[in-house]
Amino acid sequence: MQLLMMGPPGAGKGTQAAKLVKQFKIPQISTGDMFRAAVKEGTELGKQAKACMEAGKLVPDEVTIGIVRERLAKDDCKGGFILDGFPRTVEQADALTKILNELGKKLTRVLNIHVPAEDLIERAVGRRICKKCGATYHVKFNPPKGANCDECGGELYQRGDDNEETMKNRLGVYEASTRPLIDYYKIAGVYTEIDGRQPIDKVTEDLVNVLSSVKE
Ligand code: AP5
Ligand code: MG
Ligand code: ZN
Repeated sequence: MQLLMMGPPGAGKGTQAAKLVKQFKIPQISTGDMFRAAVKEGTELGKQAKACMEAGKLVPDEVTIGIVRERLAKDDCKGGFILDGFPRTVEQADALTKILNELGKKLTRVLNIHVPAEDLIERAVGRRICKKCGATYHVKFNPPKGANCDECGGELYQRGDDNEETMKNRLGVYEASTRPLIDYYKIAGVYTEIDGRQPIDKVTEDLVNVLSSVKE
């Protein structure tokens, strides 16, 4: 299964992708996570991505397309994958079609998690992430049992771009560059919208229901 998780910043792409990884045993490919790992390692890619992420802007297409092309060629993607946060521009979507053609694959489904703009800032500002395993929490909607990660005991942190000001930029970029992909994938006949305002487990249930009825 080749899945694409779409939705505005803070909609729940990462949260739901992690659930689908467990269910379908295919890897999650999050360009945001890849960029954050590069920033942490201090690589050339990390230096380039850092400034863009802090400003809430997109990393240039040619850079982003390059890392996804490399990642999708890895062995663990042979049985399928879940793209999270890529593509975000029409140019990236065209590149993805080309990459998949080269690999002899096509998208099984594009799953768009719909959440209205007014909820998104609260979701991002309240998000906490485990430093060790990457598990995602929310101070109000999905709080950890204690001060640390429920899964591994790791320390929780807040992403540098999860503040109100940067979120406003991220939402603006989403509207201008990424929202047009909804029509792009509707036309391609692979688009499904999921109501992301429901509780986390109900969103997962809806996603799994959609996927149980799609043909590969
Ligand atoms: P990225 O890391 O992809 O950020 P994003 O798209 O802004 O999305 P988020 O990760 O913020 O949200 P999410 O949808 O994963 O939500 P989550 O599940 O965590 O990208 C970061 C940056 O990297 C970009 O700004 C850009 O600079 C760069 N970048 C990345 N990809 C790029 C690309 N393709 N091209 C160019 N640049 C790129 O949930 C959010 C919170 O809500 C959590 O606290 C969670 O617990 C909570 N929550 C989740 N579901 C629910 C629910 N149903 N009800 C209540 N709360 C919920
Ligand atoms: Mg995410
Ligand atoms: Zn953890």
